[in-house]
Amino acid sequence: MLVNATEMLLKARDGHYGVPQFNINNLEWTKAVLLACEEMKSPVILGVSEGAGKYMTGYKTVAAMVKAMVESLNITVPVALHLDHGSYEGCKACVEAGFSSIMFDGSHYPIEENVEKTKELVALAHANGMSIEAEVGSIGGVEDGVVGSGEIADPEECAKITALGIDFLAAGIGNIHGVYPANWKGLDFEALDRIHKATNNIPLVLHGGTGIPDEMIAKAISLGVSKININTECQLVFAEATRKYIEEGKDQQGKGFDPRKLLAPGVEAIKAKCKEKIELFGCAGKG
Ligand code: 13P
Repeated sequence: MLVNATEMLLKARDGHYGVPQFNINNLEWTKAVLLACEEMKSPVILGVSEGAGKYMTGYKTVAAMVKAMVESLNITVPVALHLDHGSYEGCKACVEAGFSSIMFDGSHYPIEENVEKTKELVALAHANGMSIEAEVGSIGGVEDGVVGSGEIADPEECAKITALGIDFLAAGIGNIHGVYPANWKGLDFEALDRIHKATNNIPLVLHGGTGIPDEMIAKAISLGVSKININTECQLVFAEATRKYIEEGKDQQGKGFDPRKLLAPGVEAIKAKCKEKIELFGCAGKG
């Protein structure tokens, strides 16, 4: 059974650790993440971007696959299925499809429009027992073709959006999706502190978790971050392990071309990466 992400994030906030959002892209990804989290007894949020949803042939397919897999693998830790950077229409589609959580990313709208749309989606999500994340201030880098400028969120705007009854808030603090450029200035902890103070202790979300140094993650958690999103890092280790398998010619030995063999090293690499992050975020044993 899927749960919404509210309770797991309130516990993380009060217990001063972070819950991972691992984005999923296919069946292998989902299986790797679920098995790693179960082994580590960590709660988990499975993130699905609109692009990944389309790739997997639609949100209904994703919801059916995840629900069935949680059952077949006897997963006992709390699992939330969450739309990542959802549009207004995408959020509505995920409510219909049986997700347990949505993110409405209205950060590219003027604040009044972001407020209006977020308000409507808060009512819809809560009426369906789902949690909802909203965003203020775009996050840098490129994700599914969406380009953000890496701006820092305005605490007053954060307070306005938080007051709408959202369950957790993504606020830009200099974080960027994907691999950080060599000249990246790091997270802006003063901005994080101001946002935290302005938003009534709401669990905060750190997007762009890939490549943020461990000590910055720890500091962000100490300043109110309760959810950390990881996507690119799993993609990188999956690609690396798959490349190694092929470069070593293993696909040409026996039945090494069988996808169940070909994709196995990548799955193991994702599992290892998830476990490493769970340790770092302090959420092992919290599920
Ligand atoms: P990374 O791809 O940088 O890990 O970011 C993931 C993310 O923030 C998903 O919303």
